Amino acid sequence: MKFYKPLSTVILMSGLVFALPLKAEIVNLSTPSTSLVLDAEKGGPFRFLYYGDKISASDIANLASAGTANRDAYPVYGNYPQGEAALSVTHPDGNMTLDMEVADIKTSANEADGSTVTTVSMRDKSYPISLDINYRTWPEEDVIETWVDITNNGKGAVTLNRFMSGYLPVRYGDVWLSSLYGSWANEGRLNQEPLRHGVKMIKNKDGVRNSHTSHAEIMLSLDGKPMENTGRTIGAALCYSGNYKLFIDTDDSNYHHLFAGINEENSAYNLKKGETFSTPALALTFSDEGLSGASRNFHRWGRNHRLANGNELRKILLNSWEGVYFDINEEGMAQMMKDIASMGGELFVMDDGWFGDKYYRDNDSASLGDWTVDTRKLPHGIQGLVDEAEKNGIKFGIWIEPEMTNSRSRLYAEHPEYIIKAENRDIVEGRGGTQLVLDLANPKVQDLVFNVVDTLMTKYPLIDYIKWDANAPIMQHGSQYLTRDNQSHLYIDYHKGFEKVLDRIRAKYPDVTIQACASGGGRANWGVLPWFDEFWVSDNTDALQRVYMQWGTSYFFPAVAMASHISAAPNHQTFRTIPLKYRTDVAMSGRLGMEIQPKNMTDEEKDFCRRAINTYKEIRPIVQQGDIYRLLSPYDNLGAASLMYVSPRKDDAVYYWWKTETFVNQQLPRVKMAGLDPDKTYTVTELNRIDNTPLPYEGKSFTGRFLMDNGLEMPLDHNVDYHKRNDYASRILRLKAN
Ligand code: GLA
Repeated sequence: MKFYKPLSTVILMSGLVFALPLKAEIVNLSTPSTSLVLDAEKGGPFRFLYYGDKISASDIANLASAGTANRDAYPVYGNYPQGEAALSVTHPDGNMTLDMEVADIKTSANEADGSTVTTVSMRDKSYPISLDINYRTWPEEDVIETWVDITNNGKGAVTLNRFMSGYLPVRYGDVWLSSLYGSWANEGRLNQEPLRHGVKMIKNKDGVRNSHTSHAEIMLSLDGKPMENTGRTIGAALCYSGNYKLFIDTDDSNYHHLFAGINEENSAYNLKKGETFSTPALALTFSDEGLSGASRNFHRWGRNHRLANGNELRKILLNSWEGVYFDINEEGMAQMMKDIASMGGELFVMDDGWFGDKYYRDNDSASLGDWTVDTRKLPHGIQGLVDEAEKNGIKFGIWIEPEMTNSRSRLYAEHPEYIIKAENRDIVEGRGGTQLVLDLANPKVQDLVFNVVDTLMTKYPLIDYIKWDANAPIMQHGSQYLTRDNQSHLYIDYHKGFEKVLDRIRAKYPDVTIQACASGGGRANWGVLPWFDEFWVSDNTDALQRVYMQWGTSYFFPAVAMASHISAAPNHQTFRTIPLKYRTDVAMSGRLGMEIQPKNMTDEEKDFCRRAINTYKEIRPIVQQGDIYRLLSPYDNLGAASLMYVSPRKDDAVYYWWKTETFVNQQLPRVKMAGLDPDKTYTVTELNRIDNTPLPYEGKSFTGRFLMDNGLEMPLDHNVDYHKRNDYASRILRLKAN
């Protein structure tokens, strides 16, 4: 039984904690528009009271009488063990209970980034284990990060059986969950469902990547069926790159209980004397502007505080993969560089296939780990390519997969002890029948991986971009480095090692752009993004399927981080033939790039892309740094999808509309816009126009109010010459305030 305790006294100051003589301590964590209210009475339990729209001091004073949650803010296992717990341990004497009380509350301001961290310290009443439960607030973003540091102050080892980052009770009601699911080449699919009784769990066990099949981020719509631009919405994003578990237990208590953290399965963690285990952060947001509102909060926070170089505009690039696959050679690279430069691109990225001297990387069965250039293919080495890029006035980037090796490689022959492998078992191989994962728990492997980047960057300081791939999961549980009694640390220590390497790389090379690719979209998570500038959304570049994948991905990640490339027709994954206009209009809603052999494009196509790239340069700040408003969901199957980006000052916007199915005389919804200033007047210009005649409203002006109440009619198809007609239609409109 948890007893309801009326609050005796309340003192409030925005973002601060006040201790009272009566012992009751209200922790009011506030952001510009939200409040998280906790009660951390010293010597008492730590209680959650409220999370939502910002509330006033007088409302906080009366919170308890209004019957808000008043539940443990971080439930632990031990006393009354019937409910789910965020933390469960085994003490050295075998005792499996925790009984915690608040010991202290501290607030510290971080002058460098402007954030404030409030820490509620808890101690066990009888055992030498303590918790620091931390909350980071930002003065300008409606995001609160929470994480827990668990310290063993005793002599013997404590085993952590479960160690969640955070817990949030949400009042039982018509609450809907939005989450992402998918698989390779179909990442970021949106799933929306009401929360019913029982447990809904979202989890990952890949070991290396964690966002192909599901995502560590969710949204909860509190007012019934999810709406994009209205309704109270909570967003939760676990900032972690490894195995995770998010679950919502809807029990008989009037609450949906949300837990999020590292997946503890096969990962019990032994905490030795004096050691502290820190969980990854759980980022929470609240918006009463619907799902898009919560997305905007995540995007803004991400760009300002979490994403590497989040406020920098990204270059427009050509990546060689779908153009030539493993068929890398000097002439081909030079031709691609010349082509992308001539279309106005700013960067060329040489993908897989450039390395290996003993074994050659002619396919995916050899050479990972042997990061020496294949001089058969590139007689003038990387320097030759860097020079060529410079000659064309563009930057040069390169693909690596440094966490991996192949059983056919020099590295594996020399260091078989570096790979992940269980004792007394044969190796289990992945991609190409030979791929193996290096054991990043091992500091020597960490050095090796760091050196892959460091050597490249030292030798070729003009490398501007790195595509960092990871094409295998952990395929067998076993570390040749960890001791026998710490084998269960593998999944966690892999990612601790990964982060250490990334820290070193970023300390030395803060400006190089690094893409997180992992067999496509396996690393779209806030865990890796402090070190990565962007991620590859999917190996599937089919524009129609991308509308769906990018829609889902945009729930949590800003366009500046979503690599989106124009590729060939027929598409290499779906074999669908989509006209260039539509392919371009989709790619231009993210971080624009190309993934194509330009040599195979007609002059007319190149010309179209040249103009589109030029246009993208003009709208790039709005797309990459603006606010997203999703308008018409492709998942509603209404025949079209639409979204827009609005500049922070609401004086410029880009509107996208893509038809998703075609029937003669079909009736498509008229899309109302959002996010504009109702009192401003906007002039409409169509971008990437292919029609023989302009749209009726081309060059005309409308108030934001009219556009948001009525929208503009989109023709069902394009007015083009007969032989150019096809079953796709898409539009991009620029709306510039007068
Ligand atoms: C993965 C990536 C692709 C490409 C290949 C190269 O599949 O997702 O983009 O880089 O590896 O082998």
